[in-house]
Amino acid sequence: MKTFPVQYAAVRKDKPDPDTLVFGRSFTDHMFQMDYTEGKGWHDGRIVPYGPLPLEPSAMVFHYAQEVFEGLKAYRNPQGKVQLFRPMENVRRMNNSCERMCIPQLDEETALSAIEQLVELEADWVPSKPGTSLYIRPFIIATTPTLGVHAAHNYIFAIICCPVGSYYKEGINPVRIYVESRDVRAVRGGTGYAKCGGNYAASIRAGEQAEKQGYAQVLWLDGVERKYIEEVGSMNVLFKINGTVVTPALTGSVLPGITRKSCLELLRSWGVPVEERLITAQELFDAAEAGALEEAFGSGTAAVVSPIGEMGWNDRHVVVNGGQIGPLTQRLYDTLTGIQWGTQPDPFGWITKLD
Ligand SMILES: Cc1ncc(COP(=O)(O)O)c(C=O)c1O
Repeated sequence: MKTFPVQYAAVRKDKPDPDTLVFGRSFTDHMFQMDYTEGKGWHDGRIVPYGPLPLEPSAMVFHYAQEVFEGLKAYRNPQGKVQLFRPMENVRRMNNSCERMCIPQLDEETALSAIEQLVELEADWVPSKPGTSLYIRPFIIATTPTLGVHAAHNYIFAIICCPVGSYYKEGINPVRIYVESRDVRAVRGGTGYAKCGGNYAASIRAGEQAEKQGYAQVLWLDGVERKYIEEVGSMNVLFKINGTVVTPALTGSVLPGITRKSCLELLRSWGVPVEERLITAQELFDAAEAGALEEAFGSGTAAVVSPIGEMGWNDRHVVVNGGQIGPLTQRLYDTLTGIQWGTQPDPFGWITKLD
């Protein structure tokens, strides 16, 4: 592991109450920062007090959204130690996102060491109440202060962390979703498989409208034919149809989720048939109406799995598994959270324990 110099914060903040933690509101005392300068490469990795980044108003990220980000969590295990779940997967995905956005990639070991050293320094911020964790947000932004659409010459790689409360304080309640027919999140050939801010900006309008209509999330369709299912909100989506788990194939407009990958690996290890393929909204709603859709759920770092209880698509409306979480969804949730929080064995070697 590489180590970086640390400039300690003079004043330490009070930790928020773990019972009322709101995602993304309070940040820890320190952050990681590393700079890129053309001709010099990535340099000066360091941990510094959390605080504003001075940027010129002309910094390219503000105008052309040349940026990427990641999201992962640190968990406190029953021994009181802190551990990460598949952090190298996030580092690799960030580098794939960089490639798409013409951002210089990071050395994998350097990026992983940065995450590990920052979380070790901020270990006191990892809450210990059941279901709580420390969210880690690595990101890279283009900082060159010039207008004009081309790749920047300067970047900042930073990592910030925030404690998060339990996603399911009131128990796991299946959500209502609707199929979005107007807006699309991404198109093939675009940036859907990259984790970059523009994808999320494009998704906000449909999300706001869904909420107004009493739905928790939107089910995205492909941007070309508007008939294939892609993702649900900011999660991948999986369906159990006649005993087989079906999930949209990674065609370029879907984010390759690490929870999705972990679900598929677990399901295969349990002998559950799995298919990664194209699936139309028509097929899905027909299956639901015929009683063949047994379970439906989203997968992502925030919720782990989020069962879908009801789905709307134009004038069609279906209820999944009587609006209850299905047994396979529950098993995936229990197994993944057991591995993440260290209450279950880790047969796949997914956990990195920190000092
Ligand atoms: C658009 C989108 N899809 C899927 C996911 C799920 O990915 P992961 O399981 O790696 O959190 C996320 C969350 O990061 C996301 O933002």
